[in-house]
Amino acid sequence: MAEPRTAPRMQQYYAKRAAIYEQVYDKPERQHELEWLRRRMPEVLRGRTVLEVACGTGYWTQFIAREAAKVYACDINDAVLEIAREKPIPPARASFFKADAITLEGAPGGCDAAFAGFWWSHVKKSDLARFVANLSQKLVPGAVVAILDNRYAEGSSTAISRRDAEGNTYQVRHLPNGEEYEVLKNFPTPEELAEAVRGVAREAQVETVTYYWLMTFTLK
Ligand SMILES: C[S@@+](CC[C@H](N)C(=O)[O-])C[C@H]1O[C@@H](n2cnc3c(N)ncnc32)[C@H](O)[C@@H]1O
Repeated sequence: MAEPRTAPRMQQYYAKRAAIYEQVYDKPERQHELEWLRRRMPEVLRGRTVLEVACGTGYWTQFIAREAAKVYACDINDAVLEIAREKPIPPARASFFKADAITLEGAPGGCDAAFAGFWWSHVKKSDLARFVANLSQKLVPGAVVAILDNRYAEGSSTAISRRDAEGNTYQVRHLPNGEEYEVLKNFPTPEELAEAVRGVAREAQVETVTYYWLMTFTLK
């Protein structure tokens, strides 16, 4: 049987990890770079009306909402949205709703910015063009887009367990109850990132640090 387009195992994994998801931001070796990103993301999106996709528990929403005009943040999993809605963010600054990050059905149009944190790495290479096209169609020309994700860091990242025929890479992850999940996790090069948005981006900049990459661009 053909594998479904969106990886339900990945969705299940994040639903089940919702309560402990933010532990990923506690890794001691990453604190310096995370501090930089917590300052940088709100700066990049300052004053903008932001469509945030795959927002998870709203970890980045809480920082972006301090400077943005408004954040419309969506995720596919109710379990993470429930946690996000408990974040101390004034309701006028952020609202959370359920939507698929690739189809973006039900997402508001007309935003002048978008943010996706740690989502790109979970999108199959064959789905990236559709994701980029659908996201772009939801935004106004000249909108600012910021995409943040992981670089592979030996000794800090979970090891890659396999690579499929399309070049997607996978990790085997464990929940505290011992359940095992194979999760799609890609680590694109800056060149691959720039190429993926070439058709819609006026100028894409990719910044890399040890543990993270950040791509920012304005829409044509
Ligand atoms: C690695 S987490 C990132 C969460 C958050 N953006 C952050 O940076 O902390 C990936 C998120 O993607 C969500 N997700 C998985 N499949 C999705 C889909 N098809 N549409 C929208 N969200 C999805 C999961 O529920 C999870 O919250």
